[in-house]
Amino acid sequence: MPFDRTVKIAPSILSADFADFGREIRAVEDQGADWIHVDVMDGHFVPNLTFGPPAVKAFRKHVKTVMDVHLMIAPVDPYIEAYAEAGADILTAHVEAGAHTHRTLQAIRAAGMKAGVALNPGTPAQAIEHLLDLTDLVCVMTVNPGFGGQKFIDMTSKVRTLRQMIGDRPVHIEIDGGVDPTTAPLVVDAGADVLVAGSAVFRGGSVENPAPYGENIRAIRTAATTLAA
Ligand code: DX5
Ligand code: ZN
Repeated sequence: MPFDRTVKIAPSILSADFADFGREIRAVEDQGADWIHVDVMDGHFVPNLTFGPPAVKAFRKHVKTVMDVHLMIAPVDPYIEAYAEAGADILTAHVEAGAHTHRTLQAIRAAGMKAGVALNPGTPAQAIEHLLDLTDLVCVMTVNPGFGGQKFIDMTSKVRTLRQMIGDRPVHIEIDGGVDPTTAPLVVDAGADVLVAGSAVFRGGSVENPAPYGENIRAIRTAATTLAA
């Protein structure tokens, strides 16, 4: 996985048909997705439940690009090995999920994955300043995590601060929540390179009619790269 800062669109399968994940993953990849974003929720750290390691392992068989697993769970550490075995390329933990994020990021890398750290809207950029040398991706939440289809919360000043803090380090800035063709240019202009989008990618399409997935992905990419240019 060579590092680059070009804009990448990562559809969140939280907005896919839960009875048909394999075909949904193949459909969005065929339609131009760069990564597949997998939202793991535990009904404890966030008020919603999705899926765990056996399901994620089953998704892996269908992912040809990058499987980007976003853990909205606490605690994280007891499950790191299970997500490595499930085939996650990137494993992201919330900085709010426990007192020892430094240890968590070390453990994620030691298990052979790229290490991501996510920040809730109320958490400042400075919370991860001393973790950046252990981090491959910073996920800036632009909604309160737990549900797809929520309204974008403007975090552009946090993204700008992070972009400056990161400097030359090979660390991605990912935006998660409420990304669509209107909000994407704001965050890319501020320094983000990975755009997670659930509802804005899956709306209007299906595995039988996947063309809207492609149109939606292209609309986000075009909007993001036009204003940023
Ligand atoms: C929110 C999840 C997001 C969510 C994004 O808790 O982490 O990945 O699915 O969905 P949209 O793009 O619909 O806001
Ligand atoms: Zn997510």
